Amino acid sequence: MKTTITIVDNLSTNKSSYTQAVDLLTRGEVVAFPTETVYGLGAIATSEEAVAKIFEAKGRPQDNPLIVHIGSKEEISAFTHDIPKLAEVCMDMFWPGPLTLILPLKSDTLAKNVTAGLETVGVRMPEHSVALELLKQLKQPVAAPSANKSGKPSPTKAEHVFHDLAGKIPLILDGGTTGIGLESTVIDFVSDTPTILRPGGVTKEMLEKVIGQVSVAKSTDHEDAPRAPGMKYAHYAPDSPVYLIENSITKVQQAVKKIHSEQKKVAIIASDLFSQIKGDYFFSLGKENQLGDAGHLLYQALRSCDETDVDIILVPVLSKEGVGMAIMNRLEKAANGKWFHI
Ligand code: TXA
Ligand code: MG
Repeated sequence: MKTTITIVDNLSTNKSSYTQAVDLLTRGEVVAFPTETVYGLGAIATSEEAVAKIFEAKGRPQDNPLIVHIGSKEEISAFTHDIPKLAEVCMDMFWPGPLTLILPLKSDTLAKNVTAGLETVGVRMPEHSVALELLKQLKQPVAAPSANKSGKPSPTKAEHVFHDLAGKIPLILDGGTTGIGLESTVIDFVSDTPTILRPGGVTKEMLEKVIGQVSVAKSTDHEDAPRAPGMKYAHYAPDSPVYLIENSITKVQQAVKKIHSEQKKVAIIASDLFSQIKGDYFFSLGKENQLGDAGHLLYQALRSCDETDVDIILVPVLSKEGVGMAIMNRLEKAANGKWFHI
């Protein structure tokens, strides 16, 4: 299959820019599109056959459910029921935006493979002009995971999608680099206390200001059955192993020395404060303590390592405040819990 990339001006609501995408989706094909978090790979959420093409293109495990994207709030009554009051409050406050709500699913509405047979569904309204315009023109809910090959960092540019999925999908809408760079916050409103299953751009602090106490699921807890089924799989992983390391120039310098003494090559992914260290590759997460920039740059940095001959990737840990919680969550997964002790 030939994969076309169509550049869409973010300010354009010109129908013709979307005609091909709307036609393909309506015919049960998949299309990649930008959102404010990462690029998604969409299919009509009511078609089992169309949704199956997402799993196939990504190589995604069947038991990992997809997020349903909508262009207007009214759409959710067609496939959810008994929406808790606090969930309503969050939708009004944070939509469109990087917040996915897990809500009770109305049976026999969406294709079964969207929710992996669960009785709940994850829903969000993206805050990106291209995604919103596409959804509004389509007038149907779209199931869309991140548009990467399963296990790889999510795509923040159309070229990342092309790298992973060329030949497997017919169309990528190119709306430039995504803003936030990390996937949406997933919050479960089916449990007694609202629970963050995946931290993201809407932070715990922001949520608690609006709805009071929220819990955070421990994604590292391997004892329990994972609550966001996606949590149990390898994620965001470059080809070479990622190690977390203490946020200290001296420690990173010592680690580089040790790695070099073993004739190995090392990449450092860190704030510009670490750029002076003589590793083999350096990928910047922006200025020190600018967590928003770090989130925006993280996946590009992880992907860049795959273009090198590096043996080990070192990442000094960042603060877990605010969006730092989401960044560290992705990094802990990318590292699969590994630490470089020196
Ligand atoms: O920012 C985002 O959320 C991006 C863009 C494209 O919208 N999408 C995205 O989708 O990250 P995906 O499939 O890569 O991640 C969906 C996450 C997975 O961890 C999945 O297990 C969880 O949401 N999830 C989806 N439906 C769920 C449900 N009913 N119950 C629990 N977790 C669910
Ligand atoms: Mg994903």
